[in-house]
Amino acid sequence: MSKFRPLPNTGALTGILEALSFFRDPDFAKKRFDRLGNVFETSMLGQSMVFIQGDKAIADLLSEPKAVEGWWPASVQQLLGSHSLANRNGAPHKARRRVIAQLFSSSALQRYSPGIIKLINELGEELKTATDPLPLAEKMRRFAFSVIATTVLGVDGKDRDTLFSDFEIWTKALFSVPIPLPGSPFNRALKARKRLLKKLKKILNAPINSKGGLDLLAGGLDEVDIPFSDDDLGEQLLLLLFAGYETTASALSCLMRELLLNPQIESWLREEINSLHWPPTPDQAAIVYDPTNAPRLDALVKEVMRFTPPVGGFFRRTKQSLILDDIIVPQNRVVQVALIASNRHGVGDLNVFRPQRHLEGECSSSLMPFGAGERVCLGKSLAELEIRLMVIGLLGKLQLEVIPDQDFSLRQIPSPTPRDGLLVKIKA
Ligand code: HEM
Repeated sequence: MSKFRPLPNTGALTGILEALSFFRDPDFAKKRFDRLGNVFETSMLGQSMVFIQGDKAIADLLSEPKAVEGWWPASVQQLLGSHSLANRNGAPHKARRRVIAQLFSSSALQRYSPGIIKLINELGEELKTATDPLPLAEKMRRFAFSVIATTVLGVDGKDRDTLFSDFEIWTKALFSVPIPLPGSPFNRALKARKRLLKKLKKILNAPINSKGGLDLLAGGLDEVDIPFSDDDLGEQLLLLLFAGYETTASALSCLMRELLLNPQIESWLREEINSLHWPPTPDQAAIVYDPTNAPRLDALVKEVMRFTPPVGGFFRRTKQSLILDDIIVPQNRVVQVALIASNRHGVGDLNVFRPQRHLEGECSSSLMPFGAGERVCLGKSLAELEIRLMVIGLLGKLQLEVIPDQDFSLRQIPSPTPRDGLLVKIKA
């Protein structure tokens, strides 16, 4: 008799209640894993979806790259566009990755670091001189957006502000019902998408300025030897803005929230920060606060990514039947690697925020906040650089405190962020 078992199913048919529960309940997947095991299937608004957790199921999935392809929900697919590398597979995906990867090489990061440091210093000044409490989460969003828009794409001033406001409209509908009813968030997002692409194409056609990194794309374009239309490149830039700011802003806001709500962790980190110099030189910026030089900071970032992953799960579609943790998953199923549940699945105090665990050698292999394999996040190094620089640059200079009587709980979609914006002021 085969040791492989059929796929357990929640029994949901239309998937309406499942979808509602998914958006409202952060323990959606955990509750079903507890009942049905590490691999189960359900329906989300008519889309069948297989959720997986645990090292074995995830390793089984990643060990079969040829048997799977990328997938995103219909709303994301439509808002990103058919050219976007996120919606491509095989050779067209690989070629676009190679081009875009030029923007995130170590020499590119070195070029961006003075711009990032400047933004952090400006934020520090703003906090120091503010007469009223400031919403730190909103400041982190602005910062992460500016890094991509200004430092990477070279867009400044009014142009950046217009991009930002259209992007806020666009992002709100990312995980929505993709029916463009007049006045619906999805319809507004489609209109914002048109304006965004027009602007991005204008940026691509403007003479290359010395501010951003767009000149770096040229080398990659020659290398892959495929004609890229303006529509195509425009959609890749749209993807970068999307992928780069919501996620990084979430990681930064959740990290600051943990430090501000856990003074003993902040003191533990400050012992390390106090011995680190600010600002670093551009050639030092990417290495001076790395895990060797700042192990506590590294452990803190890992714990934030474990505890409140900015991307709750990543997706693959099976092109053929697969065995995941001894369960048979048929062909043409969407699989979601459920990071939130997976990161807390196992023995020990995994429901507690405790950065020290990473210095004790716990959970090093199974954390995948940036996804894995052929589609692993292209902006991982940039995101890590931004986070490290922000923590050292801001907290090295300032002592912040939260304003009491605000809602510190996290809104989960599209990425975790404190509901009341994390209002802070300088410690008296
Ligand atoms: C803390 C910040 C970030 C997190 C947690 C994060 C996480 C992720 C995850 C989970 C994926 C899916 C990977 C997969 O399917 O295996 C992804 C894809 C991607 N990310 Fe990030 N990301 C972050 C920041 C960034 C930044 C700053 C950029 C660039 C500006 C970026 C660009 C991308 C791109 C282009 C993809 C698509 C890769 C592909 O489909 O081949 N990300 N990211």
